[in-house]
Amino acid sequence: MRIMVTGASGTIGGEVLRQLLAAGHTVRALTRDPVRASLPESAEVLRGDLTDPETLTGVFENVDRLFLAPAFAVSATVNDVLAAATTAGVRRIVTLSSGAVVEDEPGYGDADYHHADEVTVEQAVEAAGVEWTHVRAGEFMANTLDWAPAIRAAGVVRSPFGKIAAGMVHEADIAAVAVAALTEDGHHGAKYVLTGPGLITPPEQVAAIGAAIGRDLRFEAISPDQARADWLAQGCDRTFVEWMLGPEDAPVSESDLVGAAELTDDVERVLNRPAHTYARWAADHADDFR
Ligand SMILES: NC(=O)c1ccc[n+]([C@@H]2O[C@H](COP(=O)([O-])OP(=O)(O)OC[C@H]3O[C@@H](n4cnc5c(N)ncnc54)[C@H](OP(=O)(O)O)[C@@H]3O)[C@@H](O)[C@H]2O)c1
Repeated sequence: MRIMVTGASGTIGGEVLRQLLAAGHTVRALTRDPVRASLPESAEVLRGDLTDPETLTGVFENVDRLFLAPAFAVSATVNDVLAAATTAGVRRIVTLSSGAVVEDEPGYGDADYHHADEVTVEQAVEAAGVEWTHVRAGEFMANTLDWAPAIRAAGVVRSPFGKIAAGMVHEADIAAVAVAALTEDGHHGAKYVLTGPGLITPPEQVAAIGAAIGRDLRFEAISPDQARADWLAQGCDRTFVEWMLGPEDAPVSESDLVGAAELTDDVERVLNRPAHTYARWAADHADDFR
């Protein structure tokens, strides 16, 4: 059995690739730039661009199963990509989607839905005549790697919404669920919504990083307006900024979001072990913050 991993140089695809290789599977990895991606030698690395199906000629030959990510790259071309994959013989596809995709939410399926790319990819895969599983990941713990430069430089994190607890999830758990769906039977048709084991606020996350690196760190709450200015200046995508903070003329209110997050037990149900805590994640990434 040969498994293809797209997004293989990314946070989740990279972890899927490493876990599959560690379990002894034959893995092919897709990247636009094999030199820059610097992927493990035991993977068969092919060049390809999901936005340009002509670059995918032959990449799916002898591939049985596919991990498909990221949705933003493949949504516009997904039908061509799936046609190439299924014609070549791919029979099972696991997508990386988002826990923010909710079918009965107003606007679901509209072109301007906040996670329209994920919906497009999920629906196309469901219609492709293959076995499928959607891995709808919640907020990645790895997002807080963005804090590393400020922590290393000054021991302080400036961020909005200090009171909002989130059920953040470790990339190793997201990848492990994807690997289970790729390699075990019994996951066809599942839409797994993945969270960590507990709700944790940004100041608690900062404290956990401080404990992991043995240093006192400080959390400083900033206003959503300040965060908007900072994030746009850092080059963050405007759609992402609006999703996080709301539009400028109708910003989201922190008090509306406090208590809104929910936990699931899908990681534990699939893996037969509890999801990793944020403290575990901080320990795993301590060197990134030193
Ligand atoms: N951050 C969160 O909290 C969160 C939560 C739920 C879901 N998500 C979803 O997770 C996805 C991002 O996953 P990630 O963080 O693992 O990715 P990432 O670390 O941002 O890496 C992006 C990956 O996409 C690949 N890629 C980008 N454009 C490509 C293209 N045109 N053709 C082929 N490959 C392309 C890159 O490969 P090369 O550069 O090597 O080609 C790279 O491996 C997004 O769809 C996001 O919506 C994120």
